Amino acid sequence: MTRQTVIAGNWKMNMRCDSAVALAKGVVAAVGDHPSVQVVLCPPSVYLTEVNDAVAGTPVELGAQNLYADGDGAFTGEVNAAMLTDVGCHYVILGHSERRTLMGETDSDVSKKLHAALAGHLVPIVCVGESLEQREANETEKVIERQINGSLAGLDEVRAAGIVIAYEPIWAIGTGRTASPEQAEEVHAFIRKELGKMFGEDVAAQIRIQYGGSVKPGNAKELLSQPNIDGALVGGASLKVEDFAGIIAAG
Ligand code: G3P
Repeated sequence: MTRQTVIAGNWKMNMRCDSAVALAKGVVAAVGDHPSVQVVLCPPSVYLTEVNDAVAGTPVELGAQNLYADGDGAFTGEVNAAMLTDVGCHYVILGHSERRTLMGETDSDVSKKLHAALAGHLVPIVCVGESLEQREANETEKVIERQINGSLAGLDEVRAAGIVIAYEPIWAIGTGRTASPEQAEEVHAFIRKELGKMFGEDVAAQIRIQYGGSVKPGNAKELLSQPNIDGALVGGASLKVEDFAGIIAAG
């Protein structure tokens, strides 16, 4: 089964309009017309329109960092799937550990958002990952199993095939401490096994699983060459064209 590598830049709460547009244009130039990997940029929601203008007509896709699961209505400050597709998004990151930790998002919240994303024709990038404490207590598989089962609850096989999972060990995010390719591959293989139990092995073999956590140009190739690592979700290194381009080139 060939899965197209997907490299996504999660800009988190960084940039201003001018720098966001400049970064997007720099990535577009670095990617060229026929990239072998799918590249996705996920800017802060207030800059989605401007970044969409910068990537329009290129192979670079636009993604959001979150959505609100309901339709239009009295939800002050929120943005839903229909709004994200309206401004050009094709992808949306869901259940990032920062949202799980800082905003108290639960697996059940992520599952609601997942269904809203799919109903809105967005490709969800569903994040899972254990804390350092959980890893040291040998609870990694238990945590991942719970997150996968809870976050993907109610998903059918047909739709499951098109989603993206991002394995982001919390201890590797923004710390410069990357999971070794072997550590990451071990968890990715475990995730695929869990997906196989839920959706069957054929579907599990189609689902792309990204690694995230201090991915840099220098470690991307080895990570991306692992059999079950199908891409990267990149934070800090996606904020500089040369770093992000180096990671794309490794894909
Ligand atoms: O979503 C990407 C992420 O959390 C990893 O961040 O800065 O470690 O690449 P970073």
